[in-house]
Amino acid sequence: MPNLTRASCEQLDADDPLRAWRDEFILPIAADGVAYLAGHSLGALPKRAIASVQRTVTDEWGDQAVRSWSDADWMDLPRRIGDKIAPLIGALPGEVLVADSTSVNLFKLLGGALRLRPDRRTILTVDENFPTDLYITQAASELFSDHPIDRVSQADLFADPDRYLSDDVCVVTLSPVDFRDGALYDIENLTRVAHEHGALVLWDLSHCVGVIPVDLHSMQADLAVGSTYKYLSGGPGAPAFLFIAERWRDALRPTLPGWMGHQAPFDFAPTYAPADGIERHLSRTPPILSFTALDATSKNVIAPRMAEALMPSRRTSFTPRPPCAKEMPRSPCTRLPIQRPNCSGMESSRP
Ligand SMILES: Cc1ncc(COP(=O)(O)O)c(C=O)c1O
Repeated sequence: MPNLTRASCEQLDADDPLRAWRDEFILPIAADGVAYLAGHSLGALPKRAIASVQRTVTDEWGDQAVRSWSDADWMDLPRRIGDKIAPLIGALPGEVLVADSTSVNLFKLLGGALRLRPDRRTILTVDENFPTDLYITQAASELFSDHPIDRVSQADLFADPDRYLSDDVCVVTLSPVDFRDGALYDIENLTRVAHEHGALVLWDLSHCVGVIPVDLHSMQADLAVGSTYKYLSGGPGAPAFLFIAERWRDALRPTLPGWMGHQAPFDFAPTYAPADGIERHLSRTPPILSFTALDATSKNVIAPRMAEALMPSRRTSFTPRPPCAKEMPRSPCTRLPIQRPNCSGMESSRP
């Protein structure tokens, strides 16, 4: 990293292609001289989300009530917002669905992947994976016929993927970014090697989407999940997304086939028949107020422009980045005091 000075930081700010979008967000604490660096946890509030949620509450829920499922196109929101997220991760329309949480989507896609390859048993992941990914992987391994999990060091796996990819590996699952230190790994190469061994890949893009150019199509990724409450500013607890490459669309069976993923939900048929498209992976009624906030963020302007900014030349290569935040400083610094989230109300254990 270059030597950081005030002047070099100001230059980085001036060159930032997303600079013009700052005014789209409410950053109230900026008035107190606080720089908000917790976008990896909860993205800032987009101004347009406020009016949009208000309108949905009063006009759609209030005045139109149940008619809004069709008149206000509530039914299409999971797919419609998915299509807006798609360019940010190099996916095609119809390959991204907004639903549930990242944890639930991971479970759903792992279940799908394991049943897609019944001849293979091992799930390959890394020790440094986000905890929920490890817990969900463990549960999926137990529930879907006790698949063994091979958990290796992230650095070792990326340094020599061939060594860990036996022909028994069914699916490789991890995140391109280490959430602890910001290190970015070369998932293009890992995807290629996994495919050479006949394995599927399932990426958790929670710490990439909206900030790092990802081109799932050029690397021929199979499956992915990710959060929207971080860099997509979808709001606290906003629904997550899942990606399924078009080539797997028909073969990958829904793990949690709910009524909203049925071909004709309002026929109330006693037997499940999957919807034609990616909507078949909907397991529940979408929480519309959360969807509205996320839709407002991505509406017409922000997502396309972000896509432009993030993929100026449709770049296809993934440049690995070494860890950039080894450890948050713990001791107070007089010139730049750091407020850690758990100093301002977040507890590390439940009451
Ligand atoms: C990499 C990663 N995966 C998954 C999750 C969990 O997402 P969710 O709460 O939507 O299940 C997080 C949450 O911060 C995360 O950082």
